Amino acid sequence: MIRLAGVSRTFTGRSGTVEALRGIDLDVAEGEFVAVVGRSGCGKSTLLRLIAGLLPVTEGEITVAGERITKARRDIAMLFQRPALLPWRSVLDNVLLPVEIFGWRRAAYSARAQELLDMVGLGGFEKRLPHELSGGMQQRVSLCRSLIGDPRVMLMDEPFSALDALTREELSVELQRVHMESSATIVFVTHSIDEAVLLADRVVVLSPRPGRIRKVVDIDIPRPRSLGRNAHLEQVARCSADLHELLMERDAPAPAGERG
Ligand SMILES: Nc1ncnc2c1ncn2[C@@H]1O[C@H](COP(=O)(O)OP(=O)(O)OP(=O)(O)O)[C@@H](O)[C@H]1O
Ligand SMILES: [Mg+2]
Repeated sequence: MIRLAGVSRTFTGRSGTVEALRGIDLDVAEGEFVAVVGRSGCGKSTLLRLIAGLLPVTEGEITVAGERITKARRDIAMLFQRPALLPWRSVLDNVLLPVEIFGWRRAAYSARAQELLDMVGLGGFEKRLPHELSGGMQQRVSLCRSLIGDPRVMLMDEPFSALDALTREELSVELQRVHMESSATIVFVTHSIDEAVLLADRVVVLSPRPGRIRKVVDIDIPRPRSLGRNAHLEQVARCSADLHELLMERDAPAPAGERG
């Protein structure tokens, strides 16, 4: 569904050149949930913006559903770390914003908007303005907005990182459900190993400067998953430990004799 071949991105500014990503090869299958982890500055957001068509590649090629990405597409939704709602529009009108932008029939989407708001626990808040909601509630509105067009691809850049742990977990479980029901292809950037193990089929570990794929880890834990007590504690612990080790690893590997 998503294919990156030899993708590099360099930023050139007054203060010099930053090689944000180098030689990224990645295939994400239709319906797959891929998490991307890595230290701050290793190019995670850049990777998502490239896939979304918000930023051109310096080298290489990105295709989604076989088509080369040159600009933003309607069937690709992007969810950012901050809610980015329009302050003068009600909750419902914010959710319906893409419907207006793309000139779809509002009547056809109103019921779906309501259903999504109910799903994330915001039934009854339709007429409120964003400033009347907490940060977590605003982010849930953004989630509904990104789902309204039933996107084939969802790109999510640390969407839950500003939320408290419980809300975060709740929304992760919700997102899993959405994913299982809609079979959308999802690329999800996170700083949290727990979140990656909870959500992803595969976890891409990026190494910094320049951002490169260090490893792709398969998470073969049955769904639905939860962070609470479950039957797969051992597997969860093993995957988390592997990822932790990969993230902590030094960038230049030590000489063979010095390693474990
Ligand atoms: N528009 C830009 N202009 C210049 N440099 C940029 C730009 N966007 C990103 N960079 C640089 O590219 C590198 C990767 O940035 P990016 O935002 O993709 O990292 P990240 O992994 O998302 O970090 P974080 O975890 O902190 O969000 C950084 O060194 C950053 O300074
Ligand atoms: Mg980022």
